Amino acid sequence: MAGLVVQFQDHLPSLNASGLTLPAMLSSLLVLGSCAVQAVVGRPDTAALRVKREGAILKRSVDSFVQSETPIAWSKLLCNIGPSGCAASGAAAGVVIASPSKSSPDYWYTWTRDASLVMTGIVDAFAHNYSSTLQTTIQNFVISQAKLQGVSNPSGGLSNGAGLGEPKFMVDLTKFSGEWGRPQRDGPPLRAIALIRYARWLVDNGYKSTAKDVVWPVIKNDLTYTAQYWGETGFDLWEEVPGNSFFTVAASHRALVEGASLAAQLGTECRACITTAPHVLCYQQTFWNNGGYIVSNLNTGASRSGKDVNSVLTSIHTFDPAVGCDATTFQPCSDKALSNLKAYVDTFRSTYAINSGIPAGKAVAVGRYSEDIYYNGNPWYLANFAVAEQLYDAIYVWKKEASITVTSLSLGFFKELIPSIATGTYASGSSTFQSIIDAVSAYADGFIDVAASHAGSGGSLAEQYDRNTGNPASAADLTWSYASFLSAADRRAGIVPAGWSAENGKTLPSTCNRAQVAGTYTQAPTPVFPANQTPNPAASTAPKPFPTGCLNAAEVYVTFNEKATTAWGQTVKVVGSTAELGSWNVANAVPLSAVAYTSGNPLWSITLPIKAGQTVSYKYVKVGADGSVQWESDPNRSLTVSAAAATTTDVCNQTGGACAAQKVDDTWR
Ligand SMILES: *[C@@H]1O[C@H](CO)[C@@H](O)[C@H](O)[C@H]1NC(C)=O
Ligand SMILES: *[C@@H]1O[C@H](CO)[C@@H](O)[C@H](O)[C@H]1NC(C)=O
Repeated sequence: MAGLVVQFQDHLPSLNASGLTLPAMLSSLLVLGSCAVQAVVGRPDTAALRVKREGAILKRSVDSFVQSETPIAWSKLLCNIGPSGCAASGAAAGVVIASPSKSSPDYWYTWTRDASLVMTGIVDAFAHNYSSTLQTTIQNFVISQAKLQGVSNPSGGLSNGAGLGEPKFMVDLTKFSGEWGRPQRDGPPLRAIALIRYARWLVDNGYKSTAKDVVWPVIKNDLTYTAQYWGETGFDLWEEVPGNSFFTVAASHRALVEGASLAAQLGTECRACITTAPHVLCYQQTFWNNGGYIVSNLNTGASRSGKDVNSVLTSIHTFDPAVGCDATTFQPCSDKALSNLKAYVDTFRSTYAINSGIPAGKAVAVGRYSEDIYYNGNPWYLANFAVAEQLYDAIYVWKKEASITVTSLSLGFFKELIPSIATGTYASGSSTFQSIIDAVSAYADGFIDVAASHAGSGGSLAEQYDRNTGNPASAADLTWSYASFLSAADRRAGIVPAGWSAENGKTLPSTCNRAQVAGTYTQAPTPVFPANQTPNPAASTAPKPFPTGCLNAAEVYVTFNEKATTAWGQTVKVVGSTAELGSWNVANAVPLSAVAYTSGNPLWSITLPIKAGQTVSYKYVKVGADGSVQWESDPNRSLTVSAAAATTTDVCNQTGGACAAQKVDDTWR
């Protein structure tokens, strides 16, 4: 792709069939056009016409790119999936490799995050347009993941779930033993989301028992992990900073809500999901900065602005058209997500040489975050596609709701596109509504066009493109790059995925806590899929209920709160007389979480399901990093666990259901 530097020369290259040279032309036009802006102030009709004309040229170019790139992206994406993908020779069945690149960089692994995001896109496409080939790919993925869940690795094993947080594996489904940023807690919820989508397709088409017997056991482990570990720190999706990641927290929330809903559909339950989800949503709100953007990583100690495509990816991967522009769940058209989008995009305007001269309000090359230094810190294709996708999602909802609301928070985003706009609600049919749709469509297309203009030969998409030259950089044929193009192209065409029951999970509880529920993990049997499970639209009227109570009334959720000042490296655990509490064996004691710990309030806490009708004795221990155990002083503590005597905590109130819960507030002695 030498020659892309012509982008900022001031001659007008002719449009070719693929439209790849369009940004060059547009940016030239814009340099000229910026002088004209003064003249059109106060004449919105002229400005609107200009936007329309530019938009039409851009639209034809992007139409053309999307049309030529779609089959290429599909074919190259499927090449990266074992066992028969043309670039994945040696990968086990169902394994999605990150990229065929085996050196500089070596991406010849399968990352749970990347694979799950890619598979969610495949399931969405499959649900939209049945294909037996894709169905086999999805089934192979489920089989491979059932096996991977049981592979012990440097993050741990399946017995307490810790091994599920391992970020990547070898392509033959064995562990990767090298040093790495681990754990990464977005893998389990993202995999649950991918599998839940296939399970829902099965239910909708009359194959509920396959969903329940074959897929649910795999989903259940990932949901259990999510409910237990969502609040703990881990490495972010870029594998660089340990802390709490907005993307991970939001993915956790979605998985828990969607998991609770699927469980109800299958006639089972995920009580840990409904218990924790509202509190995950609470915590998700804390990433907001009053400067009008998301701080993507908290508790990192890293000095970054926090403006990161992490937040844009969050918005598109938790998109649910049924909840409109809800800001609590950070929907793509919410004022928070639009304000954040502008703040994020603006950080790249002065960062990359290839963006120089492009005025505000016009699409630019965007990357992960402006302080990035990986491979010299370049724009990423998937970042450009994510920005476009968020905007296409927004357009979809605005059209569906026949209304656009501009708030004081989103005003800055809109003003950059339409300088004369004011806050207010604009109904479909008004000229302002149409101006916004036109301007946002053109802006979104611009982000596709920038990525398109830097695509490799034959439409190939690497991980990055160079910040100075625009040439493809880092790993070639990144699977996630193709998936992100395909989902953006679908949204552009108005094809959106089914929702995730967000309407049942968008309300914040009256009081928030950091509830984490310890659960049990079971190796899923090797999935066996019955043949010929083809679409059966007659069955597709299944309602999607949300649980309103607990099926297992004999199970009481007991929250153990223990105030105990600890030294760095020490963990507080609870051990006691019942199996749930490790039967007085310290090796099986249940660790409490320190996510709410402060020096002023040294709280350790965990919620644990315990069978009702027992009186249990227990104690807390402090376990050092070296395994040393310090016991609380006598006597043993005692608790009567009884569904009838359950004290009300906020644990299950969100659903209005009667779930027995108890809580003890203890202090180290
Ligand atoms: C559905 O997929 C087939 C290939 O499996 C393709 O030929 C067809 O165009 C697709 N239809 C739609 C509506 O996307
Ligand atoms: C606490 O319980 C353990 C296990 O049953 C028992 O061995 C120990 O004597 C008890 N401690 C006291 C002070 O009762």
